[in-house]
Amino acid sequence: MCWLRKDYGDCKAQLSDLLADKDSCVAGFHVAPGLRRATKITAHGPIAAGSSHRAAGAAREKRRPDGMSADEWKQAAAERAILHVQSGMKIGLGTGSTAAKFVDLLGQKVRAGLDIVCVPTSDATRAQAAALGIKLTTLEDDPLLDLTVDGADELDSELRLIKGGGGALLREKIVAVASSRVIIIADHTKRVETLGAFPLPIEVVPFGRGSTERLIADMASDCGCDGSIVLRRAPDGSPFVTDNGNYIMDCHFSMIEDPEALDDALKLVPGVVDCGLFLGIADIGIIAGPMGVEILTSDDDAFEPED
Ligand code: 5RP
Repeated sequence: MCWLRKDYGDCKAQLSDLLADKDSCVAGFHVAPGLRRATKITAHGPIAAGSSHRAAGAAREKRRPDGMSADEWKQAAAERAILHVQSGMKIGLGTGSTAAKFVDLLGQKVRAGLDIVCVPTSDATRAQAAALGIKLTTLEDDPLLDLTVDGADELDSELRLIKGGGGALLREKIVAVASSRVIIIADHTKRVETLGAFPLPIEVVPFGRGSTERLIADMASDCGCDGSIVLRRAPDGSPFVTDNGNYIMDCHFSMIEDPEALDDALKLVPGVVDCGLFLGIADIGIIAGPMGVEILTSDDDAFEPED
């Protein structure tokens, strides 16, 4: 099945073809073929410190030399992403502290009359969205979404990502791949030259974890990735369990020189459900930092709305 293949661009196109006959809501669904490259970088003006809606607790954060905190950069990125939302859209909601800021903004818009339905990528995001009065749906009822907005643990200049720091990588990938457009919002500390400083999360089924770990290590080593592989644990010391009932192995590879090769190799390991490499999935990156908001786009069709 196409879901197991690395080329999500083709996968999404196939999914669209399959469902287009059944579902007239796919108008506008577009995926550039093959692995998409980030082709355009736009720098926007500096963000005024304190100008965004500051989340509770932000004042306790360490201030940066530019007067802004990481929290405010995340907020600035979320505020830019909200410009892509229109009434009538079906929207995938990411997981994590940056995505949560987008969900908060969406909640404000819904209270003001915005008509949307959303698919959350985790139980935590579901609870947040429900509390804000955001209408929820499922991929069973709405298999194609217009837009997903999510955070990332790392992103490079080709909009390749590491995700899964919050343990939601599988649902995040399923929802993103079902979306016509994927926007990643992040503060500039997530932007890297080479992926891998952030430990790569791999979701594995609990059965046979020891053997799975050995195979992961062997396959990764063949791709030039060596380093410790650590079972993620909950605060009480028990294994961290994902919303899907699986475990997460955090792989400290430091540098992933060939993410595509590693992604392909890991998918051959039977106990691996998925890994946190998101390749050819993101369409737009919105990165906020001391120099302002930087926009990365994967192709010329990824529009940037006027403010
Ligand atoms: C969760 C994720 C998050 O998007 C990622 O961990 C970034 O989180 P944050 O915005 O809190 O830094 O992939 O699985």
